[in-house]
Amino acid sequence: MRIITKTGELHEAMREERSRGRRIGFVPTMGFLHEGHLSLVRESVQQTDVTVVSIFVNPTQFGPRENFNEYPRDTGRDTEILKAEEVDYLFLPDREEMYSKDYKTYVEVHSLQDKLCGRSRPDHFRGVCTVVLKLFNAVDPDIAFFGQKDAQQAIILKRMVQDLNLGVKIEILPIVREEDGLALSSRNTNLNPEERRAALVLSKSLEEARRIVMNGERDPEQIIGGMKEMIAAEPLAKIDYVEIVDMENLVPVRKIEKEVLAALAVFVGKVRLIDNTILQVKE
Ligand code: PAF
Repeated sequence: MRIITKTGELHEAMREERSRGRRIGFVPTMGFLHEGHLSLVRESVQQTDVTVVSIFVNPTQFGPRENFNEYPRDTGRDTEILKAEEVDYLFLPDREEMYSKDYKTYVEVHSLQDKLCGRSRPDHFRGVCTVVLKLFNAVDPDIAFFGQKDAQQAIILKRMVQDLNLGVKIEILPIVREEDGLALSSRNTNLNPEERRAALVLSKSLEEARRIVMNGERDPEQIIGGMKEMIAAEPLAKIDYVEIVDMENLVPVRKIEKEVLAALAVFVGKVRLIDNTILQVKE
């Protein structure tokens, strides 16, 4: 695995790979890798000729009260894991490489960026889109892999790719969960044992949503009510939002039809966790 820290060098290496007719797969990450990331890496290794993984804890997607410095990091361990997965390139830029002192350019996906997580994290998706576009420009991948866990991020990035005529295909892979249902996230390491137990309320409430729909309920308010009730019964949990929205425009739906996204964000202690599921109705 070749480790590259400079954008220019990565660009050059990718040009060379492409000139040999190789298809490039890209997995952008913020490191502290878990099985969720590895499912993306493995898919890229399977589907493409060259896999590039980036690790960059992107400062522009953290709000002023979100602790960028406390985001978990372990680049040594991540590097070993990626080598074992037979990743071809690891891009490890530092902050100055990605954002010069007089950096001024940002990408915004209007309306989608303000919904769901965007309400409590106003500049988050602007930071995500900006860094992902910069990374796409450096790698110019054929396919980029993202997780369904960050459903809003995936929907916004797909929109960005379409709106800006980028040539990359975005592939979204299913959420990877612990055996008891907790969705994998680097943030889970910040949970103490009691909070870890309480965090199960996210996946349990999504199960409850699926159960209610299976029983024939089509009114989103009823389903959201059931989910909120369940979460409220967990003393360590505090709801940020619970919503059932259209899969493309993220607007709350009035009726459950075809496929809709049930998404939630819940504080467990001080840790903000997200999870989601697609509710499907066969007509
Ligand atoms: O999903 C993430 O880890 C980040 O938001 C991403 C896509 C790597 C951009 O920093």
